[in-house]
Amino acid sequence: MSEKKAHLTVDGIDGALEMPVRSGTLGPDVVDVGGLTGRGLFTYDPGFVSTASCESKITFIDGGKGQLLHRGYPIEQLAEKSDYLETCYLLMNGELPNAEQKKTYVDTIMSHTMVHESLVSFFKGFRYDAHPMAMMCGVVGALASFYHDSLDINNPEHREISAHRLIAKMPTLAAMCYKHSKGMPFMYPDNSRSYSENFLHMMFGNPCESSKIDPIVAKAMDIIFLLHADHEQNASTSTVRLAGSSGANPFACISSGIATLWGPAHGGANEAVLNMLQEIGDESRIDEFVKRAKDKSDPFRLMGFGHRVYKNFDPRSRVMQGICDEVLGAMGAENDPLLKIAKKLEKIALEDDYFVEKKLYPNVDFYSGIIMKAIGIPTDMFTVIFATGRTSGWIAHWNEMISNPYKIGRPRQLYTGYPQRNYTDLEQR
Ligand code: SDX
Repeated sequence: MSEKKAHLTVDGIDGALEMPVRSGTLGPDVVDVGGLTGRGLFTYDPGFVSTASCESKITFIDGGKGQLLHRGYPIEQLAEKSDYLETCYLLMNGELPNAEQKKTYVDTIMSHTMVHESLVSFFKGFRYDAHPMAMMCGVVGALASFYHDSLDINNPEHREISAHRLIAKMPTLAAMCYKHSKGMPFMYPDNSRSYSENFLHMMFGNPCESSKIDPIVAKAMDIIFLLHADHEQNASTSTVRLAGSSGANPFACISSGIATLWGPAHGGANEAVLNMLQEIGDESRIDEFVKRAKDKSDPFRLMGFGHRVYKNFDPRSRVMQGICDEVLGAMGAENDPLLKIAKKLEKIALEDDYFVEKKLYPNVDFYSGIIMKAIGIPTDMFTVIFATGRTSGWIAHWNEMISNPYKIGRPRQLYTGYPQRNYTDLEQR
């Protein structure tokens, strides 16, 4: 079939501009607008609502169908049958591992869980009440200072060991943030435990006694990491790609992803959900907040609802919804007042015309915040957990970009400032 073309006519420019149209395996076709600059034109798309920034084989999202595929596998099947480290392998390598490959991968990751002892001093420099995301931005970027032997981004082996180190060390650093905030001793990893059980051990264990982790909670933690692993070209992943396109080392790129994820419109939403529930405080005040969320003049938005891409239910939310009751039951938290407010808020939002018309369904952050609170994870650690899970997606996208021909990302702009004018001396101003 001949190549598809797009034809653009612009007032003031003779003739139609012809642009190639490319089709992917799934999803909308894309118009290659690279040649527009040569005709004195840029495209304009603030927020990149209609812009494909790259070609990728890692994750596909169909917002209308509520579909999320990782290397072709539906998220619902991975959540039911896979686990977080197997999904990390899939995102990075493109295929599910066989038994031998899986064992080798898990053993490799679990052999990199410790961090250099000097990192303990980094934490001593933070105030006792430093936000964990502030600490994570710092210590993850600083990891580059310990691995001078493997920062050649053009060396596939350096890229692989950096990916292993990041996936392995994020839980350790996350738990260190929590322990620092409590003034408690850091826990060393226990590599005889599974990845997610080890994280909970480092979070809630103490050197004076052995920690027993409820398998239901460990499984829920693993599913939370898995559901947050990757999500196409979201804001933080796009930041990691843009940082990587300059040739920056992977630790600096992941640190830039952490910084972007921190925002309440993105990964910070799970923390914002709990803060919102606390602000609502009582079921009797829910209607007041729903009214504010609909009020155009009020910047308040219902945290945990809506999504740029999903105009149907976020498939991750459905899985989260399923494990929510199981975890609440295991933790005896069914009657937690905040969680009861959450359940009532969910019911109202799913029935209210404003939210139904605007397709503002509960997103992944709505339920993950509730589950993490039930597990006993403090609210300010929620986005750190999100960053820990998303590190596998970030590094898979970074590796995919660096492994293929790429250019430094350098968007242009619509300039609406002053035309050229001459300097005015101070006496004349
Ligand atoms: C994540 O991109 C990803 O993949 C992100 C993520 C991932 O895994 O990486 O899925 C993780 O970030 C999930 C989203 C978490 N954020 C929140 O829960 C914060 C609350 N949600 C909103 O901030 C908002 O819904 C966004 C930012 C998530 C999406 O915003 P959009 O798609 O840019 O939509 P919009 O701002 O253009 O809103 C469309 C309309 C507007 O009304 P109108 O101007 O059309 O009249 O819906 C309204 C908005 O005012 N609206 C809301 C709302 N979200 C959108 N109104 C009230 N409460 C809300 N939550």
